[in-house]
Amino acid sequence: MGGDFFECVDVGSENCPCYLSLTNDCMTCTRLQGMDHCDCKWAGVCIYNEFIWNKKEIKNPRNDIKVEIVDKKIYDNQFAVLVFKTDKYLSQRFKYPGTYIFMRNPNDSFIYDVPISVMYADSDKDHVHTAIKIISAKTKRLIDSEDNLIIRGPYRNGIFGLSHLKNITNGRMLILCKSMGIAPAVKIMKYYDKNLKMDLIADINRIPSSFAQDCLVDCKADINYLNFKNEYDLDTIKSLINEKKYDAVAVFATDKYISLFHNILKSINYDKGFITVNNFSMCCGEGVCGACASTTKDGKVVKMCKCQMKGEDVLKGGVIHV
Ligand SMILES: Cc1cc2nc3c(=O)[nH]c(=O)nc-3n(C[C@H](O)[C@H](O)[C@H](O)COP(=O)(O)OP(=O)(O)OC[C@H]3O[C@@H](n4cnc5c(N)ncnc54)[C@H](O)[C@@H]3O)c2cc1C
Ligand code: FES
Repeated sequence: MGGDFFECVDVGSENCPCYLSLTNDCMTCTRLQGMDHCDCKWAGVCIYNEFIWNKKEIKNPRNDIKVEIVDKKIYDNQFAVLVFKTDKYLSQRFKYPGTYIFMRNPNDSFIYDVPISVMYADSDKDHVHTAIKIISAKTKRLIDSEDNLIIRGPYRNGIFGLSHLKNITNGRMLILCKSMGIAPAVKIMKYYDKNLKMDLIADINRIPSSFAQDCLVDCKADINYLNFKNEYDLDTIKSLINEKKYDAVAVFATDKYISLFHNILKSINYDKGFITVNNFSMCCGEGVCGACASTTKDGKVVKMCKCQMKGEDVLKGGVIHV
């Protein structure tokens, strides 16, 4: 078999083969890694064959698209819900858990592109909802835009542990989210139907409650608000996990809290699905710029905008990320 195998989030998708195939840097295909034989572990459609049939060009490169803002609401000058109109093709592709896009103000150059999770893609109206924390240059400029935005996507690697999500179409799942983790949490709650029972515990102490309420509107989940800094509340969460035997637990928060909940799950021998947000810094999303690079124990550099991992493997990573 080929050397290292890293699961590429785009493999077999309409965006595969990608830019990495042009330079013998494909994460999956040994032929597109410059080897003279086929020896990969990918069981789907042959990437090399697709590359040849596509005249050795990349498939469906994601391009900048100008979209119209249909709603913008700002909370305490620090948070915003931004809704834009797109077309049917994109609104369908934006609905999957883990999807994010790059966005910027049309008056700015690509250096302002900022990765933002798709919070909800309404494929009836083709409206896409995003929730933004206004921090610094990119988000401040983005939110200044009045009528239009430039977007690029879909990108798929906003969540680690997508395989756990694909496997639990019914059963029960717990989502623990803090602050802006609310955006990928809403996406999951709106994506799955009633067969997957969802409990959401949100720590909204650092965000305006009106913002949280607007984000969570129409979410079909059992929602509770706790404080992840409070030992008593953490004990409550621990008891709940013990009691409800969740098929998966998702943590959408900073790496500090991902680590904290991972330790709590270990302490109670929880060994089912563990799903986390991808908190790596990203600039291109295409595996090219290196902003998201992480080094494994063996010294191999992996681009985390492309590489899909299980939540627990992120914690085991070579250069420990959390
Ligand atoms: C896959 C993915 C999905 C994401 N989804 C979302 C989303 O849905 N919504 C969202 O809001 N963000 C999201 N982010 C995070 C967002 O992309 C970053 O916060 C982005 O760096 C903000 O750009 P900026 O120029 O405003 O701030 P940057 O200058 O890039 O700030 C980067 C970091 O520096 C620190 N920082 C810089 N300036 C300040 C300041 N004035 N005050 C406090 N801290 C500061 C913060 O810790 C911040 O995280 C996502 C990121 C990824 C990778
Ligand atoms: S964000 Fe550019 S390589 Fe991952």
